[in-house]
Amino acid sequence: MRRRARRWSGRDGHDLDLEVIIVRAGGCGLVGGGLRTQSLQVLHIKRNGCGRGASVDNVTAGCHTLLSSAVPRRRSGSGEVARPVVVESRLSYMVRPDQPPRPIALSDFLYESVDATAVLDVKALAAAYATIPVDPYIAEGYRYKAIAWLRIKHRLGTINKAIDEHIARASELSGLDPRAHLSDASPTWSDESGYECWKLPQYSLAQSKAYNPVHGDLRREYPPIARALLDGPDLRRLVFHYAARFEWHDALVLVQFQRVEALADRPGRVAVEGFHQDGNQHVAMLIVDRTNIAPDSGISQYKRDVGGKMTNEMVFDAVVPPGHLIYWNDKRVWHYGTDIEIADPGANGGRGTRDIVILSAKEPPAHVPMAPVPDRYKD
Ligand SMILES: [Fe+2]
Repeated sequence: MRRRARRWSGRDGHDLDLEVIIVRAGGCGLVGGGLRTQSLQVLHIKRNGCGRGASVDNVTAGCHTLLSSAVPRRRSGSGEVARPVVVESRLSYMVRPDQPPRPIALSDFLYESVDATAVLDVKALAAAYATIPVDPYIAEGYRYKAIAWLRIKHRLGTINKAIDEHIARASELSGLDPRAHLSDASPTWSDESGYECWKLPQYSLAQSKAYNPVHGDLRREYPPIARALLDGPDLRRLVFHYAARFEWHDALVLVQFQRVEALADRPGRVAVEGFHQDGNQHVAMLIVDRTNIAPDSGISQYKRDVGGKMTNEMVFDAVVPPGHLIYWNDKRVWHYGTDIEIADPGANGGRGTRDIVILSAKEPPAHVPMAPVPDRYKD
């Protein structure tokens, strides 16, 4: 194991103490997290004493400089250059119950990978995937999906009236009480940071074709996430971690539990659309489990956006391990996941699975893909 550390004086005027730990062919579980790249090299990059406001781009630049002096760049088995990955271990943020949140400057934010195992128990979430039904909108049958809609508002945050209007309209069109889930109703949960959460009815998904050429302008009806999970502590911690990371005042959050399955003769497609954006400001993805899938499949990849167009600059290219979550700026990067392939066709009943939770916050007037509740999912 080798360590390199230095003070990086960044272009944005913030000094950062960076430490890089390099472990060859080791496992994950390092202090604060670790990642395995395609070349089976584990890199851990710790950001010490980071000043609030330092841009992630700048941290990335500092880490790459350190790595280039510490690690000879190597070719992986697939011929790709293994990329260093920034892993940050910050687990708590600055939100307090007695002052309004201060939304972060998204112009400074590209992505961030977080080891969430100290915050939540992914095993408590993993059990739910066995009961999630197949996604009827994927003809090949390799995807399983359940969703929930939440509203997450800080108790001192400014109410976004358009969110109340969206909820009232969608509920009214569903034949439900339009006032039952508005911001003046009692929240379902609250957090010590001051964030409060309202569990909303089981609205359908109606994404714009502008963002989803495969399923856009189609109303998709998905089953609910098990109530025990929604009432349990782990999903709650994840949701509030997301809110505290970006410090929004008031947002609708779409929660998607999604499993992709690979069989011996059929890989599982993680991103049907290829590299894409979903029209969100930012997204959180938690990797819950990877079972019996090849270690170099199901790789998360992000390419930089310039002026609304995808470039060839890959800013993240790694397998995110279970228990880690990744936040990204959906305006500044395009995301993709490579297909998953089964590791051992003789194991796990001939199935390989990758289970994730995706959280995406919507703050109208930005696009809100919310449509009426199907009759079968009305409480
Ligand atoms: Fe997506």
